Amino acid sequence: MASYDVIIIGSGPGGYVAAIRCAQLGLKTACVEGRETLGGTCLNVGCIPSKALLHASHMLHEAEHNFATMGLKGKAPSVDWKQMLTYKNDVIGQNTKGIEFLFKKNKIDWIKGWGSIPEAGKVKVGDEVHEAKNIIIASGSEASSLPGVEVDEKIVVTSTGALELPKIPKKMVVIGAGVIGLELGSVYARLGTEVTVVEFLDHITPGMDGEVQKTFQRMLKKQGLTFIMGAAVQGVSATKTKAKVTYKLRKDDSEASLDADVVLVATGRRPYTDGLGLEALGVEMSERGQIKTDAQWRTNVAGIYAIGDAIDGPMLAHKAEDEGMAAAEVISGKHGHVNYGVIPGVIYTHPEVASVGLTEDQLKEEGRAYKVGKFSFMGNGRAKAVFAGDGFVKLLADKETDRILGAHIIGPAAGDLIHEVCVAMEFGASAEDLALTCHAHPTYSEAVREAALACGDGPIHA
Ligand code: FAD
Ligand code: NAI
Repeated sequence: MASYDVIIIGSGPGGYVAAIRCAQLGLKTACVEGRETLGGTCLNVGCIPSKALLHASHMLHEAEHNFATMGLKGKAPSVDWKQMLTYKNDVIGQNTKGIEFLFKKNKIDWIKGWGSIPEAGKVKVGDEVHEAKNIIIASGSEASSLPGVEVDEKIVVTSTGALELPKIPKKMVVIGAGVIGLELGSVYARLGTEVTVVEFLDHITPGMDGEVQKTFQRMLKKQGLTFIMGAAVQGVSATKTKAKVTYKLRKDDSEASLDADVVLVATGRRPYTDGLGLEALGVEMSERGQIKTDAQWRTNVAGIYAIGDAIDGPMLAHKAEDEGMAAAEVISGKHGHVNYGVIPGVIYTHPEVASVGLTEDQLKEEGRAYKVGKFSFMGNGRAKAVFAGDGFVKLLADKETDRILGAHIIGPAAGDLIHEVCVAMEFGASAEDLALTCHAHPTYSEAVREAALACGDGPIHA
């Protein structure tokens, strides 16, 4: 039996970051992970592999659609799917090995196996029971399915199966027009699959800015994705090679069905806490299966903390990482803090979609007076040069104080551009502060400045 200051259960972005920060703060630290490799959902079957496939398929799309215009002649490359999966797996390997290296460097013990908590202060892995003054649960999440839909990860798949299909399907039905459905739907559409997205609501990407939703859907349609909106999936029947998705249109209750080679179920994820023994310990849970914590990630059981996808809040890697760092700081007697008002969200399609802070709908609901500064990438020289003029930056600021309240971007490098707004918001900046900051030309970031100018006397290039 070994004894630690902290044992973390789960090595995803929440768990591994917590472990590294605990070790840096001088705490004797171990991390329990049941998977073969470190890094959790994000590195193994989430953020990283999906971005590798998005990158490779985007390169193909560029070759097919834009190369000839730039004078780059010749046949567009053909797809060697097996090699694309090898590339994706290599990227995963480099990243998971990187975490293993960081664990060794920081003298963190990786306890291999599935952990449970027989009592506060103890973590059991296999037959071994380890002692820990503090335990952080970072057990993450798993895909949730629908009633009447049985996932086999071959024909009816979650994102995990969709990242590892034996061949590129001819027809794919995606259930759910959220982040996973649109990212992976884009990958396969670019690779030549006929992709139909079936969504329960009347708009895609729930929770995002309404104008962004409309523009984004229009662009995805142009890229070949078909949408069936306002449709409640009733069930999926599958054979060894085909599937049929039955749905009911909400507007008139009419029923219809779609045939597919592969069905991707992307209707959300739920916290994963199986086997931890939380019920016996009396750890309080929400009705949605999340572990309840206070503002410093403490559960109701002394010495047990929880972070990441297993608790409330957006299911995002960077949110989990920030909580991991902050919980480690709380445990070591420092002041850990996460500003939940400034957590960016990014969809890595082409173009990218990014947002931070409040949406117009939320501001209206709050009855808050606000102003909108909007700038189209059509007025941005750099974007036009790379066929990326479609899209815009929208900045929301308080009408009285000019303080930035939110930003919503659809366009080139949106996922990077959003961070200058995040930094500005952390500093409590006004739109004028951004507008007065010199931005290098020609960069996409000039569009952010122009949107800030649009909150005041007006943009220059519109
Ligand atoms: P996880 O990453 O889920 O890690 C939890 C780990 O705990 C797992 O490895 C699991 O094996 C282990 N574990 C669980 N129980 C036990 C136990 N009892 N004993 C031992 N080990 C245990 N987020 C982004 O911010 N950006 C993206 O681009 C992005 N892309 C995504 C793409 C896909 C396809 C998916 C599915 C998700 C994506 N996400 C993305 C979400 C992101 O992966 C999660 O928000 C993030 O991984 C959560 O981190 P976590 O540490 O809370 O949990
Ligand atoms: P999601 O919550 O983003 O989207 C689910 C979609 O399915 C919603 O549009 C919802 O209305 C729809 N839906 C639900 N039930 C339905 C039904 N019966 N029929 C039709 N549509 C239905 O969930 P998703 O895409 O599965 O992603 C899960 C999590 O993973 C997200 O919370 C996200 O934060 C995270 N993630 C983040 C990424 C990123 O940051 N780029 C990438 C991928 C995932």
